[in-house]
Amino acid sequence: MIASGRMGEAISVCEYVLNTNMELAANKSFLYFLATVLLRSGDPALTARCLSKVSQSAFEALPSEILAIFTELQRKQASAESSKDLSCVYSDKVYSVSEEYLKKTDDSQYLPVWKRVLALLKSINATSIVDIGCGPGQFAEFIKENLPYVHYTGVDFSSTAISQAKKRVDDKRFVFYERNVDELDSLDSFNADVFIFLEVLEHIDADRALISKLPPKSDAIFSVPDFDSFSHVRFFNSISQARERYSPMLSIKEDFEVKLSSSATIYLLYGTVKDFT
Ligand SMILES: C[S@@+](CC[C@H](N)C(=O)[O-])C[C@H]1O[C@@H](n2cnc3c(N)ncnc32)[C@H](O)[C@@H]1O
Repeated sequence: MIASGRMGEAISVCEYVLNTNMELAANKSFLYFLATVLLRSGDPALTARCLSKVSQSAFEALPSEILAIFTELQRKQASAESSKDLSCVYSDKVYSVSEEYLKKTDDSQYLPVWKRVLALLKSINATSIVDIGCGPGQFAEFIKENLPYVHYTGVDFSSTAISQAKKRVDDKRFVFYERNVDELDSLDSFNADVFIFLEVLEHIDADRALISKLPPKSDAIFSVPDFDSFSHVRFFNSISQARERYSPMLSIKEDFEVKLSSSATIYLLYGTVKDFT
């Protein structure tokens, strides 16, 4: 993540390259950096200025994952949107081109996280779960294979994710809804005993407001990363930082560090929603 004090410098470097070096300005790595800086800046005028200097042929040569970020930037700029969250349009694009999300559950790099979640679900005798930001149904498929009695509801604002998930897990115990959870007043209507957020909260600026919509006393299981990505609004330097962020709304009961690689760790936390009534 570009530290806020460094954002001005990053913007200056981008503008300098765009104004002086056509070759570098068309380079894929530079354009990825530029897209990250513009997303983080949340400044539609800056975005318009910078995008007008990138050649059409440079855009056309980009891999679809990076092109999707620029399409999102153009959409935000056109609607003068300063939110740092990526939209459902971006998610739709990613799910229509991503191979990672089509992988079988056994081949996913997130399998160690899901195994840990499974152990937690078993230990609390979960019977009905809601998976917020469920994506195209990889975790749902894992649950179907490992918890034959559980009722599962997947929610995501990407219509592409929801239609892929429905095809992937065609079972009457599994239902999927296309919803933007930021627009819901409360999550009570989902009527579950456990709410799950896997790799979702770091994509949502108003993450704590979202947790506050959970029904009091329900269980919550969520994972957040210790690494940066252009699509992360935040990441965590330690598991205690993650505990601290969510402790005002959740009584955290257990936490786990799951290593994905030498440079990427997932913090998995389990807690109960505090009752302020
Ligand atoms: C990094 S993906 C994680 C997907 C899945 N949970 C997994 O672990 O594979 C984040 C997901 O959150 C969804 N999402 C982000 N903001 C959302 C919102 N406001 N409402 C509903 N879904 C949202 C995205 O569409 C995306 O599918």
